[in-house]
This record gives sequence, structure tokens and C-alpha cells, in this order.
Amino acid sequence: MAKKNDDVVIGPTGRPYNGFVTPEKLDRHGPARIIALCNQKGGVGKTTTSINLAASLANYGRRVLAVDFDPQGALSAGLGIATHDVPTIYDLMLDTKSDPHEAIIPSNVDGLDVIPANIDLSAAEVHLVNEVARETILSRVLSKVAKDYDVILIDCQPSLGLLTVNALTAAHGVLVPLECEYFALRGVALLIETIEKVQDRLNPSLELDGLLATMYDARTLHSREVLERIVETFGDKVFETVIGRTVKFPDASVSGVPIIEYAPSHDAAQAYLRLARELVHRGAVA
Ligand SMILES: Nc1ncnc2c1ncn2[C@@H]1O[C@H](COP(=O)(O)OP(=O)(O)O)[C@@H](O)[C@H]1O
Ligand SMILES: [Mg+2]
Repeated sequence: MAKKNDDVVIGPTGRPYNGFVTPEKLDRHGPARIIALCNQKGGVGKTTTSINLAASLANYGRRVLAVDFDPQGALSAGLGIATHDVPTIYDLMLDTKSDPHEAIIPSNVDGLDVIPANIDLSAAEVHLVNEVARETILSRVLSKVAKDYDVILIDCQPSLGLLTVNALTAAHGVLVPLECEYFALRGVALLIETIEKVQDRLNPSLELDGLLATMYDARTLHSREVLERIVETFGDKVFETVIGRTVKFPDASVSGVPIIEYAPSHDAAQAYLRLARELVHRGAVA
């Protein structure tokens, strides 16, 4: 964790530790800033971060919509939401005249709503490939609900295909979770290239909000070295908040609740609350 250095506490990214102040309550809501959580690598913490960041922002009074954009439906499951026989994000994308409100399900967390996904979404890449303006379909769907929320988080699937391009086109910002393991940075160049292409051709105002180091284990030299490499490469784009490795996450997802409800005093719950405060501090969320 943090180490002392002439009275200044240095965080794991090498910057002075900042707890970030508790955000002020909002007196008005919306329109939402849309953030896509992307990394074409699986198992890096996209879904865990989507669930727990969404719950943490809701905890600070933000109105949050989490969009499950992975046919695995792990975000929906992690928030205890059934995905059988319900309208999903796929239905909304197939019929862009439909009202997205009909697919929104309130979660058990106050202020956090979900648009679920299920395996149907795996057909989307094939079905949408001949659509006119196929990259902007999600953007058009979300524009109908953006005024109801302060932030919309899109939990992307592990690929850089048409669905992820839709997410990047709909988004104002991208958050990239990186697992503190060797090869964490492998593939990131390709992801950045994809982001740049989307900026160039589809969504000029898209910003890289930041990179989030996940599954960090301060006890291993390995983890510390990988984090150092990430910071060397991306500098201040790396969030000061780092998510430690803990079995509480798998445990919480099985229970279908975010970690801030499952184990509120655990370091991992505190880390996601701090990430929420850091995003507000950075202006990425109102
Ligand atoms: N900080 C963490 N420490 C330990 N396990 C984690 C952590 N974050 C996520 N996990 C676990 O790792 C697996 C992959 O995480 P997930 O968020 O589903 O990644 P992705 O959505 O990028 O595929 C899940 O089983 C999850 O519970
Ligand atoms: Mg996932």
C-alpha cells in the first residue's frame, strides 16, 4: 500500500496519496456523460469495475445507468438481474424505434439502473453489419435516455469489433482497466489505435479518461513492476486509485451485489468508492 516518504504519503502510482473529497450532492440531474469500459482482453476487470464504479457513483447520489454490452451478461448477473425473456440492449439496437425505457431495470442499488444483455447480443455483429450507420446505433439508443442520468457506463465485451466501436462512438470517454500482470500492455497499442480511428472518423470528442490498474498485489515485485511500466507508459492518465487483488470480487459477483454492499468496509469497496471520487475530481463525471 502507500509508503511514507518525508511525511508525504506516496500512493502505488508514485504520486502523493490523495483520498479525493466526497463529491457534493447534485441538485439537478443529467444529461449523462457516457463512459465505455474497454479492453479487448478478457478477465481484466471491465465488468467488476462497471458494477462497482456504477454502485459507488450511485452511492454519491449520481443517477447511473449501467449498460451490459457483453453477450455473457456478466454485468446483469453481477447485479442480480435476470436476463431471460426480458428486453435487452440487443432488442433496442435491432429496433431503433423502440423506447429504451422499456428495457431499463432498476437494480437493488438505489440510483442504479441497468439495461441487460444476454447471448442474443452475440448475433449483433452479424446482423448489424449491413445496417446503414451501423456504428452509431448504440449512440442513437442511448441519446433517448441520456437526460435521465448523470452517467452511463457501458461494459464492453472483450473484442474490438463492431459492438465495441458502437460503444466508443456513443461514449464521451473511455476507461481502460489493466490487470497488473505481465502482458498487461500487450494489445493496448491496438486499443489506442482503435480509439484514435473512432475519434478520427466517428466521434471526434471522444476522450481517454484513464487507465485503471486492477488486481494489484503490493506484496509481489511482479505486480509493482507491471504498475511501474503502466505509469511509465501512460503517466497521469493512470488513475491514482489502484484496485487490489482480492477474492471478495468473485464472492460478491456470485451473490449478485456490488462489493460496497457485500463488504462495505473492505479495502476493495473503499477503492471503488475512491475511484468514483477521483472521476468526479477529474471532471469525468458531474
Ligand atoms: N481486483 C480483483 N481481484 C480479484 N479478482 C478480481 C478482481 N477484479 C475482478 N476479479 C475477478 O476476475 C474475473 C474477471 O473479472 P471481470 O471483471 O469479469 O473481467 P472482464 O469483464 O474484463 O472480463 C472475475 O471472476 C472477477 O470476479
Ligand atoms: Mg466482462
